[in-house]
Amino acid sequence: MTKPPKEIRNICCIGAGYVGGPTMAVIADRCPNIQVNVVDLDAARIAAWNDSDLSKLPVYEPGLDAVVGRARGQNLHFSTEVDIAISKADMVFISVNTPTKAKGLGSGQASDLRWVEACARQVAKCAKGHTIVVEKSTLPVRTAETIQAILHAAQKPLVDESSPRSFVVLSNPEFLAEGTAIQDLESPDRVLIGGEDNDAIEALAKIYSQWVPSEKILRTNLWSSELSKLTANAFLAQRISSINSVAALCEVTGADVREVSMAIGADSRIGERFLNSGPGFGGSCFKKDILNLVYLCRYFSLPEVADYWQNVVTLNTWQQHRIARLVVKQLFGTVTGKRLALLGFAFKANTNDTREAPAINIAKDLLEEGAQLAIYDPKVNAKQISMDLQLHESSPPDSEAGPTRAALNGEGTWWPESSVIEAVNGADAVLILTEWEEFRHLNWAMIAPKMRQPAWVFDARAVVDPIAVRSTGLKLWRVGDGDS
Ligand code: NAD
Ligand code: UDX
Repeated sequence: MTKPPKEIRNICCIGAGYVGGPTMAVIADRCPNIQVNVVDLDAARIAAWNDSDLSKLPVYEPGLDAVVGRARGQNLHFSTEVDIAISKADMVFISVNTPTKAKGLGSGQASDLRWVEACARQVAKCAKGHTIVVEKSTLPVRTAETIQAILHAAQKPLVDESSPRSFVVLSNPEFLAEGTAIQDLESPDRVLIGGEDNDAIEALAKIYSQWVPSEKILRTNLWSSELSKLTANAFLAQRISSINSVAALCEVTGADVREVSMAIGADSRIGERFLNSGPGFGGSCFKKDILNLVYLCRYFSLPEVADYWQNVVTLNTWQQHRIARLVVKQLFGTVTGKRLALLGFAFKANTNDTREAPAINIAKDLLEEGAQLAIYDPKVNAKQISMDLQLHESSPPDSEAGPTRAALNGEGTWWPESSVIEAVNGADAVLILTEWEEFRHLNWAMIAPKMRQPAWVFDARAVVDPIAVRSTGLKLWRVGDGDS
């Protein structure tokens, strides 16, 4: 087999999303001698990555604009020319989406690998010489086998070449979390490289060693690497479902979940992180990766293990419906025609991503009850909210014109607001669903008089100062707070 080049000079990354864009920007920034081409089929996304106004990048991530600003046009390039970028590359990262299958075998659980397979076929068609193919997407264990099979079937010279082509597949899952992606990429807890070919493993390790300490670059076999990514997410998600189950118990017993978190987190075997109770986990990864694990367990005839992990997801959905139900209960059993201010729509702070955001389920439940939702999020646009709720935005109610026909008919409606103060105007309740920094510093003395009394604050992220809220006469529910 041809040896891989000692130095990787040219990288192609297929997929310019939340992972591909930031990861490649940091590699380009840290490795000025490597040309990095990020390609995507989505022309609008590529145009946004190339926008001269760095505030218009398609992914909002603190610090990303500065990194892209330094490297773009130097050794970082965004384009839709997938074939050309593959043909020039020594190393191709596959960083495409792997959502849960929506139909067919394994529907609702298994990963949809059609985009990964399409990438493997495209690499097989266009690569030249020796190419290292790196799985960056999160994939079910043993996916590399499929990619290898496709690539090995193509190990013959292209028509215009005489030498044979060769491929090696590595797994290099990404552990970044949105909102802290640049920090996570620049100082990762670890970099994981799985593979069978030492030369290829070392070629990739050499890239990371430009800025990551060598003891943090872990090497495993392919299958351990693929499975570690799925299970890392499952363990993190399990902590959130565990603490949210405890939060519900706190609310009925007078315990305070933050005090419980502090007490259990002080045990060094447990640790203090990922113990914030809230409206349940969202984001593009946790749910799909656990469901994928559930599917794998069923496939390998481990039904008890599958049920164990399935419950982590079930409890998460339960927490979201529980919050919607308690809002309705506190507002005298009905929210029909009532105005509610939803603060935050993104699945967490510091991202514009709304995939699997808890706000979606909570808002849908309230819309079903006929609520009028005034939604404010500092980074999520109205078009995205409309797609997530599968409901067009309405115009804000006009006090002169009276209630809209939809409101009179008891239909739920929503509209976007551009500030907190506009959203709370005339509202019966405020729901805080994302922990944006600005929601920690709200002026409740100014907000309370604008609301219709008696008014409620439902703080699903425990970000408000309870004394400041209650002193204005507002009623407060905070996740995991007993009525002590
Ligand atoms: P994304 O949807 O934001 O981006 C994927 C991109 O791939 C899209 O822009 C899509 O147009 C493009 N694409 C799909 N098929 C293509 C093809 N054949 N050729 C060219 N482009 C193609 O997804 P993401 O959030 O960046 O996630 C990518 C992978 O990384 C997933 O497997 C995910 O599980 C994993 N991951 C995500 C995160 C995260 O926080 N988002 C973290 C770690 C790992
Ligand atoms: C996650 C993993 O953390 C990351 O390692 C992986 O690579 C991709 O998936 P991400 O989904 O971007 O990252 O965000 P994360 O910070 O993990 O938060 C996930 C969800 O859990 C969010 O909705 C967040 O609000 C929630 N969460 C997190 C809690 O409710 N409580 C916590 O203590 C921590």
